[in-house]
Amino acid sequence: MAEATQREFVFSRRDFEEVRKMIYDHAGIALNDAKEDMVYSRLARRLRATGLRSFQEYLALIRSGDAVEWEAFVNSLTTNLTDFFREAHHFHLLKEFLHTRHERPITIWCSAASTGEEPYSIAMSAVEVFGGFNAPVQVLATDLDTNVLKKGSDGMYTQDRIKKLTEAQQRQFFLKGTGDRAGMVKVKPELAAMVKFFQVNLLDASWPVVGQVRGGLDAIFCRNVMIYFDKPTQYTMLKKMKPLLKPDGLLFVGHSEALYHATDLFRLRGQTVYEHAELPHGSARK
Ligand SMILES: C[S@@+](CC[C@H](N)C(=O)[O-])C[C@H]1O[C@@H](n2cnc3c(N)ncnc32)[C@H](O)[C@@H]1O
Repeated sequence: MAEATQREFVFSRRDFEEVRKMIYDHAGIALNDAKEDMVYSRLARRLRATGLRSFQEYLALIRSGDAVEWEAFVNSLTTNLTDFFREAHHFHLLKEFLHTRHERPITIWCSAASTGEEPYSIAMSAVEVFGGFNAPVQVLATDLDTNVLKKGSDGMYTQDRIKKLTEAQQRQFFLKGTGDRAGMVKVKPELAAMVKFFQVNLLDASWPVVGQVRGGLDAIFCRNVMIYFDKPTQYTMLKKMKPLLKPDGLLFVGHSEALYHATDLFRLRGQTVYEHAELPHGSARK
């Protein structure tokens, strides 16, 4: 753990508390005391980038409402770890589920999409189920962090990011970079066309995703983001998600995000996969 004396900038307890309150109020991200070093090192980069010499000056800039730095501040405080086909069992279940869907189009909201690996994994699963890029599936990929949204819509990854995919998947879904782009891969345009990236803050009272959905969502992926929220924030968010999900739709959550506190809203249907709590048992499977 870095001692305060070894630090390049003074970062007081009061500075940490202020950052903590701002990001909690804006994004619901609850930073505990153990995150102090992480917050320091991520924001120290912003001080260097802006040329400011103290956290007091930096936080004054943030308080002043500087839109550009506010966005960079928020982006710095999100954690974006993700992977293609992360928690692979969800994609097996998704494929089975897609086979049973009759209404068109099938709309899936990936609500913490990070750098795009998750929504592209959903789209790849759909192509495999429907046998082509004309699969009747639209993936809405949203996140709070504007940097990751840009990376997702660029769809460029280092080759090692896709090494766990089969050879056939690598060929079907990615273009290999050459020359300057050697070692990089890019999502094929046909796959990219199935995924639409835009910003949604899950803490906001109104979600732009609502205007994109007619007739409800077939599935919602909300994985590995609730871990950053406290239970009341999780519950409020889940309550808002519920009416967006079709009566027989599915909610996929992360491996450590059991919804014991929201059993009035959703009930377990499979490993970290939920359905509406009030459905007659077994009805979503028909
Ligand atoms: C650890 S990543 C999870 C990525 C992906 N869902 C997965 O499971 O691999 C968490 C993501 O949640 C996003 N996030 C954090 N707070 C958010 C909020 N209030 N609204 C929307 N996205 C948020 C972060 O920017 C980050 O990209």
